[in-house]
Amino acid sequence: MKVRIKKSKGFKGTIKITSDKSISHRAVFIASLASGISEIENFLFAEDCITTLKCLEKLGVKLKIRSDKVTVQGKELYNFNEPYSILNAKNSGTTARFLIGILSGQNFFSIIDGDSSLRNRPMKRVVEPLRKMGAWIEGRNNSENLPIAIRGKELKGIKYKLPIPSAQLKSALIFAGLLSKDETEILEPIPSRDHTERLLSYFGAPIKKENGVIKVKGGNIFPSQKISVPGDFSSASFFITSALLIENSEIIIPDVGLNPTRTGFIRVLKRMGANIKINDERLLCNEPVGTISISPSSLIGTSIEQDEIPSLIDEIPLLMLLATQAKGKTTLKGASELRVKESDRLGVMAENLRKMGVEMEEKEDGFIIEGPQRLKGTRVSSRGDHRIAMTMAIAGLIAEGITEIEDFECYKISFPDFYRLLKNWQDE
Ligand code: S3P
Repeated sequence: MKVRIKKSKGFKGTIKITSDKSISHRAVFIASLASGISEIENFLFAEDCITTLKCLEKLGVKLKIRSDKVTVQGKELYNFNEPYSILNAKNSGTTARFLIGILSGQNFFSIIDGDSSLRNRPMKRVVEPLRKMGAWIEGRNNSENLPIAIRGKELKGIKYKLPIPSAQLKSALIFAGLLSKDETEILEPIPSRDHTERLLSYFGAPIKKENGVIKVKGGNIFPSQKISVPGDFSSASFFITSALLIENSEIIIPDVGLNPTRTGFIRVLKRMGANIKINDERLLCNEPVGTISISPSSLIGTSIEQDEIPSLIDEIPLLMLLATQAKGKTTLKGASELRVKESDRLGVMAENLRKMGVEMEEKEDGFIIEGPQRLKGTRVSSRGDHRIAMTMAIAGLIAEGITEIEDFECYKISFPDFYRLLKNWQDE
């Protein structure tokens, strides 16, 4: 699918953002590990989360789906079934890495595969510590890439310092820790999103965090729960960006997740002079949520350092776009992880922005962009990456002329309502 986007005259209104992708994945994985029937309200029916549901069904998890609610019959940690065929994680890194953690501790054989993007993404970061726990895992390219085969074993707890601040890696180890015969300690030097820890505590599972160390006790069956998933802050960020950059805009986004391990984008935007207000803050199933109000703002450049990266990792393509519109220099460092996401996000964004007339310096782990610069509509590609497709659509709203985006359909991976909501910003 190809879309054509023209310069926007702004939008005023309330936007209902779809549910959080990270929390939807975790809700259904954790409910599958629990004992009894869990109910998940406001589950995100986006392609990645549907992929997780299908893989869990192949592992014998009984699911019932009614409108936006998923009911899950838990497998009490160990009672998953050996899958009859390969588990296809498609485009979803979260699905693949969480599965590797859980299947390492199940007493059967399984194989995980994915699409061409996921087959190129690193898996050894998960495989190595799991082997230390006693797992038998072998995969393509010396176990760096999918397909990966697992012969489940009884796992033992380890003490492990995370070499990279990845929430997918951390969560895979937490899940394996729940299945192990003793205690696992995970030292997290730079914190990444903590939805797994929060949701497991909400379920009453044996997990605690003290001084940057996460401790998980293995072998303890925990009960089912009723969960409601908040709005996705990363999805909201696309329209936060358009409201900041387009005159005559004013938007309100209610019921959106505001977990501080996810909202580094707001902290950076406030430094850049953005007019963002937060109201009605509260906890929903142990997750901070609230209402965000945004209006157009004159932005100034800033520097974004390595420690901030995990809390805004998925918003970096948008920060590149914002940097082109801010006055002065914006620099970002320490984000080489971005090169191993669904696409090489630094490279693809630099290529697309340059096509739109932007002058910028691309670094191995970041960028330097001096603004403000005018964007010219032209033809760009998402390279099959959902966050690039949506960022370029927002770029199209501020560019002169028409922006054509190839391979646009992938927005459905994380934000199936995006295209419908984007039309608010295009007058007839
Ligand atoms: C995610 C963690 C992040 C993020 C991804 C979702 C998660 O990946 O980029 O979109 O749900 O745990 P990494 O853990 O690889 O940094």
